Amino acid sequence: SGVAGTRGLLCLLSDRIDREVLDAAGPGLKVISTLSVGFDHLALDEIKKRGIRVGYTPDVLTDATAELSVALLLSACRRLPEAAEQVKSGGWTTWKPLWMCGYGLSDSTVGIIGLGRIGQAVARRLKPFGVRKFLYTGSGPKPESAAEFGAEFVPLTRLAEESDFVVVTCALTPATQGMCNKDFFSKMKKTSVFVNTSRGAVVNQEDLYEALAHGRIAAAGLDVTTPEPLPTDHPLLSLKNCVILPHIGSATYATRNTMAVLAANNLLAGLRGEPMPHELKL
Ligand code: NDP
Ligand code: DGY
Repeated sequence: SGVAGTRGLLCLLSDRIDREVLDAAGPGLKVISTLSVGFDHLALDEIKKRGIRVGYTPDVLTDATAELSVALLLSACRRLPEAAEQVKSGGWTTWKPLWMCGYGLSDSTVGIIGLGRIGQAVARRLKPFGVRKFLYTGSGPKPESAAEFGAEFVPLTRLAEESDFVVVTCALTPATQGMCNKDFFSKMKKTSVFVNTSRGAVVNQEDLYEALAHGRIAAAGLDVTTPEPLPTDHPLLSLKNCVILPHIGSATYATRNTMAVLAANNLLAGLRGEPMPHELKL
């Protein structure tokens, strides 16, 4: 009821802007500005049909999200939350050669699902850790983006089979929904680590749970889940080899401030009928 009669709508990624909301807003709605780069929460076909313009926040959150992706990867592969817990619980008795061992990036193969803005920024940050080979997948090869990392475009199956680390940074679309499923995890190496900072629905969480619980993959780091928040009794939270964060990829003060200003400016430009700083092409 709050949107009735509005000309402009500022929304968050947690607001589902569907036909019901658009109907409630009425024909006067001219612009939607989302405080996010992801737009899977917007019913774009319906929005386009009604001639509504959409603003979003690409680029300004790329660095923060890539940084968090690397932090999450290192937390999962070097078991940081589990190890820190051992210090608190008294599990740290003495130095032991194989205690709390994990997997390192040096000489590894990293597979990036979605070599877009964030995917490239993740690769750029991981390269100095001594990664030997980058693989990537997407809707097609991107030689100009891949050249910086010498990254090879491969089918999803090969990426799963050969990567020591899989990092998911694609958009959520009908094609990517549930893409990381039982079949995918069964092709990964037992020693591999899976990281998702895109959207929870790209992953089949039951399949991920099975893969982690039965040691079919080594560990996972998730910044995004389905649903959000993840219920505190969710099976994934019972696993030591799964690090879960509450969707904080872009959560630095500077980034959120910049996103907010950009979203406001998108909205104002849309209301004035001017070009937006960042308009989604529908
Ligand atoms: P981009 O549009 O730059 O990148 C998206 C990538 O997804 C593209 O490289 C695209 O590849 C890829 N993609 C599309 N379809 C497929 C497919 N079928 N298989 C594999 N890859 C595919 O977006 P950003 O990098 O800026 O953001 C990516 C996503 O990250 C956002 O949509 C959002 O959901 C998420 N995000 C999460 C954050 C968090 O807090 N955790 C913060 C910011 C973003 P191609 O060009 O080949 O189609
Ligand atoms: C986005 O922008 O899509 C993120 O999920 C939050 O910043």
